[in-house]
Amino acid sequence: MNPLEQYSLEELRLRTSEKWTNYSPDVLPLWVAEMDIKLPEELVGSITQIIKRGDLGYLSKVGFERYVNAFCSFADRHWGWKPDTKMIVDVPDVVRGCTQVINAYLEHNPDNSVIVSTPIYPPFINGYAKGYKYIDAPLTPLYFDGKLSDNPFRLDFEALEVAFKNSTTNSKKAVYALCNPSNPTGTVHTPDELRQLANLSSKYGVLVVSDEIHGPLVTARNFELENHVLSECSNPANHGKHSAFTPYLSLQEADLAITVCSASKAFSIPGVKAALVIASSHPSNKARDLLFNSGHFSKANSEHLGVLAQTICLNQCDEWLYHLVQAIRNNISYFESLSKQYFPLAKYACLGGTYFAWVDFGEYVKNGSIPEDISPAKYFLDNAKVAFNPGNSFATPIDLTFSGLQKVGAKISASPYDNFVRINLATSQEIIRMALESVGSIL
Ligand SMILES: Cc1ncc(COP(=O)(O)O)c(C=O)c1O
Repeated sequence: MNPLEQYSLEELRLRTSEKWTNYSPDVLPLWVAEMDIKLPEELVGSITQIIKRGDLGYLSKVGFERYVNAFCSFADRHWGWKPDTKMIVDVPDVVRGCTQVINAYLEHNPDNSVIVSTPIYPPFINGYAKGYKYIDAPLTPLYFDGKLSDNPFRLDFEALEVAFKNSTTNSKKAVYALCNPSNPTGTVHTPDELRQLANLSSKYGVLVVSDEIHGPLVTARNFELENHVLSECSNPANHGKHSAFTPYLSLQEADLAITVCSASKAFSIPGVKAALVIASSHPSNKARDLLFNSGHFSKANSEHLGVLAQTICLNQCDEWLYHLVQAIRNNISYFESLSKQYFPLAKYACLGGTYFAWVDFGEYVKNGSIPEDISPAKYFLDNAKVAFNPGNSFATPIDLTFSGLQKVGAKISASPYDNFVRINLATSQEIIRMALESVGSIL
């Protein structure tokens, strides 16, 4: 069963969430990170039962513990990582979890810094860094010496070392906010890269906060490579062999580090709130102190319904997730073939860590098909009636409207990603085709 091919456009337009209500009904919305999926039967059945029982009271300690155990079992089954259950607290969502960790560590001191690597999910730039110095150590670019790079959007360790060094002189503190895997590029950081990052973090005393919300989407990606059949996933001998994803805290070197994660992206349930904050169990205890002795965190803090939903997804829905990941892969291939047909001059990255395409329409600005004074996202919205996320919101501090478009009259500083858009491919192939065809017709 392909969970992305279960609803017609008419049925999706009945949805009341952000994705389907922000634009007028003549716009095809391929923007915010919600998927047009049919939820797993196990989840629908359990949530229906819970609601029928009137079981929507406060989250219990037992419910919290079941959630923690479900996550730890998922992490072991898919990534071969055994988090220490004693190092975990919960928060309503990942953005709030990261914000809380950053404020607990940097203590609202404006001389302290938040370091990020653009392009990156906008709250890293516009939210986490608010009230602190904002430092960008960008991912390596898509073009190198004017040619397409064959390995773009990797961590740039020279830039990171400069940022870590400069931000920690005179006892100032700094956080590096890591997006693992990266949104929007889909970069899945390798164990070697993450080890190098951990070494820099220890050298300069920079806290790494790793946002791993897209991690569960990398789960089943190399099932085929390993030639495993699904039933073998639960065989302990295969634990950790299924995924290219490396949880940052699974590395022994990750000392001063905290991970914030959730099942809400992989199962598309971000409207029911729950997320986990996990401290490194490195013997230095530095991260544990921040979580358990700073007075900023406690247990059983998230939403009862969110916790129940995530517990079911993490415990019972491996097969559904496997089908979803295959469907995303197929949609990425479909996007690649349609983009050749409808906008052959565009360059893109779909590096496998999530369900976005990160696409550069710069050649169409150069040849005059897209006017220079308007972003490609706005041009497509107005003329092709298709909503994508604008590239500059992933690259530069900017005043954004609710839908991620820049406010009228907002001051914009140029970024290398002004001509990029992020396209959400977690929908049916029919909708992808209609959207790309419409874009192609105005280029
Ligand atoms: C990298 C990343 N972090 C966090 C979030 C939002 O997570 P939450 O809804 O749990 O705050 C998203 C949503 O798309 C995301 O892509």
